[in-house]
This record gives sequence, structure tokens and C-alpha cells, in this order.
Amino acid sequence: MNETRHRVLDALSDGPVSGPELAEELDISRSAVWKHVEALREAGFDIASDDAGYSLAAVPEFGGEAVEYGLDAPFEVEYHDSIPSTNARARDLAAAGAEDVVVLADEQTGGRGRLDREWSSPSGGVWLSILFRPDVPMAQAPAFTLAASVAAARAAREVGVDAGIKWPNDVLVESDGDERKLVGILTEMEGEADRASWIIVGIGVNANVDPEDLPAEANPTSLSAELGDPVDRRVFTQRLLELFEELRRDPETAVAEWREYATTLGKRVRVETPDGVVEGEAVAVEFPGGLVVDTGDERVTVSAGDCDHLRPL
Ligand code: BTN
Repeated sequence: MNETRHRVLDALSDGPVSGPELAEELDISRSAVWKHVEALREAGFDIASDDAGYSLAAVPEFGGEAVEYGLDAPFEVEYHDSIPSTNARARDLAAAGAEDVVVLADEQTGGRGRLDREWSSPSGGVWLSILFRPDVPMAQAPAFTLAASVAAARAAREVGVDAGIKWPNDVLVESDGDERKLVGILTEMEGEADRASWIIVGIGVNANVDPEDLPAEANPTSLSAELGDPVDRRVFTQRLLELFEELRRDPETAVAEWREYATTLGKRVRVETPDGVVEGEAVAVEFPGGLVVDTGDERVTVSAGDCDHLRPL
């Protein structure tokens, strides 16, 4: 949303304000005011108008403008009702030079997961990709993935869902030893070893979706299933982005905070890494995101892989 439209919205939320007053306040023509008002109405904002002028009566439930309105983070939000994959779209935007853009969708028709898996993304979820260009070496990128999982776990807890994180970045809800997946994160990046050119953090939150509509293998849950009621996706998305914004500024703290939500530390794990299987007790997570596993013989740090929590011996 451009700066002037933001200012129109702010003025309307303090309304009623007349067209001429608005034009003068923002130093634009009356017809420009009218165009902004119409564009906002088209985006779903309910703008009342009477003798006293215009005022903001209601904000749309979801969408790009809705999420940007009142968002305390410097992201532009590009919204799609339906798109193959927000990560794929963010890659195109990266190639075109964009940054600090969030691609958000109600539904994905070709959502992608880790390890080349599909990610089922029916309408009602929060499927988004954050494209940014941090000034860090590529090796530090895993810290942003952990930051995203912390932001997602915290946002879930703020709406009352007791989420934890399985290394490296599965956000889960545990009950009676059963782990149900709530959020998945897929990070992609490009650049030289000493500096990432761009990073895309793709976050898929099963928000208002019925777990029955998701593949059973992942043992999925959703915010609405845990709470018994749908969540306000606009507010949830805003909090997720605001929390991520804080953490991306300070990746070392993000890793420290990750430990607070970790369900993996202290557990017996089996990690399938590109170099083979590592089994033992998960004892620590080190910046930028490696898991330290005590195999009984030695301590091994694994930086990538698929992690299973095992039953205690
Ligand atoms: C996983 O396998 O756990 C990661 C899933 C990541 C899914 C998200 S949804 C938004 C973004 N767009 C995609 O195509 N994938 C990610």
C-alpha cells in the first residue's frame, strides 16, 4: 500500500473527515481522495460516508491491505486468494530486486515443503513467504529459520495454543506424547558464501483449516482445531510478522529464544543428515542453528536433517 493510501486510512480511522478536509490535510486533489477511498473500498474496507464526511467502519478480514493496516513492521504485503506457491512467487520478486516483501495467500495449489515434499495448503491457512536481504554470510541463514519458528510458536501461544518447536523448525502441539504439526517452515536463499543476496522464509500455518483436510502422515493440527474456534487471521499474521521482524534484527537472540520453546532438547533423537544417521540425546543448539547430539561416544553437531523424537530408553 502506498504512503498516501496509508495516510488516507489513518485519517479515516480518526474520522469523520470530509473530502475537502482530507485533500487539504494530505495535499492531494479531491479526485485523488475519491480514488483512494474507492480503491480502499475495493480492497474490502468498509468506508462510511455521511454529511460529516468519510469514516472507517470496518477493516477487511484478511488480505494484503488488511494485514498492512496497523502492521508494526516494514513489510509490503502482496496478497493472492490462490497461488501455486508463495515461496515460488517470492523467488520471482527476489530476481526482480525486491526486498522486505511478504507474499501472502489464502490458498496454495502447489505448496512446497522441505525435502521436496508437497505442502497441502487449503483455503483458511496462513501461507506466507518473507523476502529480505540481511547483511550476513550464507552460513548464518539457519538462524532466520529458527527465528521464524520462534515467531510462529509465540504467535500461536498468544492466541492460546501451547506450541513448541521440534528441531530445526517444526512447530508442534504435544499432548500425551503425541506430536501434531501446526506450522512448517521452508527457507530458501541465494548469494555468495560471505553474503546472502536474499533469503526467503516460507511459513505455513494451519490456521483455520480442518486437520481432516490435510494429509494424515504429518499428523496435522490447526489453530482452529486446538481452540475450537477460528482465529482472526489478520491479527495473527500481523503478530507473526512483527515477532519475526524483532527476531531477524538479532539472530543470536533468536537462537537463544529458540531454546525456550524447544521440545527436542533433552530427548533421544534420530536425525537423518545428508551424511548419515545420528542417534543420541539432543543436548544443545548452537548458533546459527546446529543441533548437538550426544551419541554416547561423542558429541556430534548436525546442521541439517530430518529429526525424529524417540521414546526414552
Ligand atoms: C515443511 O515441510 O515443514 C515446510 C513447509 C513450508 C510451507 C510454506 S507455506 C508458505 C510457503 N510457500 C510454500 O510453497 N511453502 C512454504
